[in-house]
Amino acid sequence: MSYIEIRNIFKIFGPDPKSALELAKGGADKDEILAKTGHTVGLHDVSLSIEQGETFVVMGLSGSGKSTLIRHLNRLIDPTAGSISFGGEDILAMDIPALNAFRRQRLGMVFQRFGLLPHRNVMDNVAYGLEIQGTARKDREAAASKWIARVGLAGYETKFPDQLSGGMQQRVGLARALATDPEVLLMDEAFSALDPLIRSDMQDELMKLQAELHKTIVFITHDLDEALKIGDRIAILKDGKLVQVGRPEEIVLKPADDYVQAFTRDVNRSKVLRAQSIMTPSRSEAKPLDNVSFTVDVDTRLEAILPQLITTGDRSIIAVIDRNECIVGHIHRNHILQALSN
Ligand SMILES: Nc1ncnc2c1ncn2[C@@H]1O[C@H](COP(=O)(O)OP(=O)(O)OP(=O)(O)O)[C@@H](O)[C@H]1O
Ligand SMILES: [Mg+2]
Repeated sequence: MSYIEIRNIFKIFGPDPKSALELAKGGADKDEILAKTGHTVGLHDVSLSIEQGETFVVMGLSGSGKSTLIRHLNRLIDPTAGSISFGGEDILAMDIPALNAFRRQRLGMVFQRFGLLPHRNVMDNVAYGLEIQGTARKDREAAASKWIARVGLAGYETKFPDQLSGGMQQRVGLARALATDPEVLLMDEAFSALDPLIRSDMQDELMKLQAELHKTIVFITHDLDEALKIGDRIAILKDGKLVQVGRPEEIVLKPADDYVQAFTRDVNRSKVLRAQSIMTPSRSEAKPLDNVSFTVDVDTRLEAILPQLITTGDRSIIAVIDRNECIVGHIHRNHILQALSN
């Protein structure tokens, strides 16, 4: 079983959700239910399994149900039908004290508008979660200092949020979320309010932190490039329904329908595709290749292979090796051109 299990969640907004639920279960879609009952379908039969330690991205157009989904994970809202568990524990069965403890101890949240407390300085914002948990001042300030330094803000401890740029405020938001050492980070459009360059820095920062911390991260975005860059897996929502869940390569190479295809059209494929996803696998009885120009690791992205291709001949073959340096496949120059031009 995966760490977070979401099973057959329906969320219907309106005065009598149960009445519209029957229609939804009968297969009526969001527009039809709105027309017939005046109810809005937020989520329609969504089931997801999220692994411990993975960065799981949820994406979709505005109104597709992304925020509704993440709000179920901290139980800001409850589903009309369905079940949700964390580590085997049914979070919908928690009473108020258990729910408060769950939110404080096991979840960290990072918001689009940073959500910092304006009258508290950086130190006191980052230490806030620990303060709520009753941690002594000395200990919480030591922990907060560590995280402030970790997100690159050492020296800013006594500044107030309005003295910081948006990017810096979101670093504080990230440090605050991490300070309580939560199991799960919930990030709803956390970088969407930032300038493109700052946003890209924050994505890199998050990936660096994640490589060390291995948190379970549920990250919401409407930007496919961001999803492909940071996501181990990506779920795509449309009108409250899940249309595809897959690794970045799967989304780009095998979009489930026209909606996903439309998202992927402008993607820079060289940043997403890796050697493994386009190689021809070797058969164990195959003869060694004699015209290999160079070797690459299975995880190498095409953007890193391209510069080397320039210096090799038309018929050159790239051998793909695994962690044990065994050749597991090969790529012809043409494979790369095809993959990029598709
Ligand atoms: N509290 C609510 N009451 C009524 N309808 C709601 C409520 N919250 C969300 N909805 C509806 O549910 C659907 C999904 O909304 P949601 O906010 O989850 O979308 P989203 O994917 O997060 O969009 P955005 O990218 O704009 O943030 C929308 O049709 C929205 O109108
Ligand atoms: Mg939203």
